[in-house]
Amino acid sequence: MIPFLDLRLATEELRPEIGQAIARVLTSGCYILGAEVEAFENEFAAHCGARHCVGVASGLDALTLLLRALGIGAGDEVIVPSNTYIATWLAVSAVGARVVPIEPDVATYNLDPLQVEDAISSRTRAILAVHLYGQAAAMGALGEIARRRGVMLVADAAQAHGVNLGGVPSAFSFYPSKNLGALGDGGAVVTDDAALAGRIRALGNYGSRKKHLNEVRGVNSRLDPMQAAVLRVKLQHLDEWNRRRRKIAELYLDQLDGIPDLVLPRVAEGSSAAWHIFAIQHPRRDWLARQLALEEIGTMIHYPVPPHLSEAYRDAGYRRGAFPLAERLAAQELSLPLHPHLTGEQVEEIIGSVCLAACVPMEDVA
Ligand SMILES: Cc1ncc(COP(=O)(O)O)c(C=O)c1O
Repeated sequence: MIPFLDLRLATEELRPEIGQAIARVLTSGCYILGAEVEAFENEFAAHCGARHCVGVASGLDALTLLLRALGIGAGDEVIVPSNTYIATWLAVSAVGARVVPIEPDVATYNLDPLQVEDAISSRTRAILAVHLYGQAAAMGALGEIARRRGVMLVADAAQAHGVNLGGVPSAFSFYPSKNLGALGDGGAVVTDDAALAGRIRALGNYGSRKKHLNEVRGVNSRLDPMQAAVLRVKLQHLDEWNRRRRKIAELYLDQLDGIPDLVLPRVAEGSSAAWHIFAIQHPRRDWLARQLALEEIGTMIHYPVPPHLSEAYRDAGYRRGAFPLAERLAAQELSLPLHPHLTGEQVEEIIGSVCLAACVPMEDVA
């Protein structure tokens, strides 16, 4: 049996260190913010090559507070990918702005800069790029467009711990299954802009920088010290774990190449990838997933319903066919197991099973 992901494996690898980290918090008597959160923020900022990191309660909060701190709100438009986890859209909606979805580059699954440029209007305040599946979006080209057109560029890096952020304010999730995952919810914004970091910190702490002085109507969204302590342990292993992910991705790319109808992910020239998800496409996706399940190989779909067709955006009036590429991905994408604790044998077994299943001629598929 090869599950898509077993979160216990990472915990088991680091159990003594995680135990010590949790014990440190227990004995500290400090259970909100404090030294542990501060230490993690400094260490994660350094890992990202950024000056500041502000821990918050989740990836969705990181995105929402980032947009709010940039002054984005009602009447503004934010360009987002049509194919992303719905949280990207929800953050824009949460601050009262309008999502302007753009179809992806079919090869990289990320925002296509040419289409982004065409979608910029007088109301556009920001481009919210997503490093989907862990591959960095085309930040160079997007940054150039943003500068030229006078809009902001920010990133949803929820799936991309370890990629080059290109100096762009970026929101992270530490949801347990992420490359850097906590033992619960958590998130952070990373930026070089001290004033922006300060505003996000205040917004997430009841709008307060100083106790009892509330400058704005903020929220309670703080990274938990227990999670910060766990994340500090895991952060020390992130590079090695990402290396293991890359090795597995390279094996998949090499050995699954050339199978008819099977589309493999492609990393754009000069881009970096943290290989959070290995997303293939196949016209008989559901059949392929069933065949792999019969071999006891777990897969997932990221994501079966594109945001524009979700109930949550029904009132926006999008129809089926509005974003054909996002819809095609929803119908054909399949995520193969890819995590640092997969063994070489398991990877070989997955490759063998995908080859066998995907090579069955269409007419033989019931
Ligand atoms: C692309 C993307 N954005 C945002 C989020 C939201 O993160 P969280 O679940 O921590 O709120 C996630 C993960 O769940 C994600 O994959």
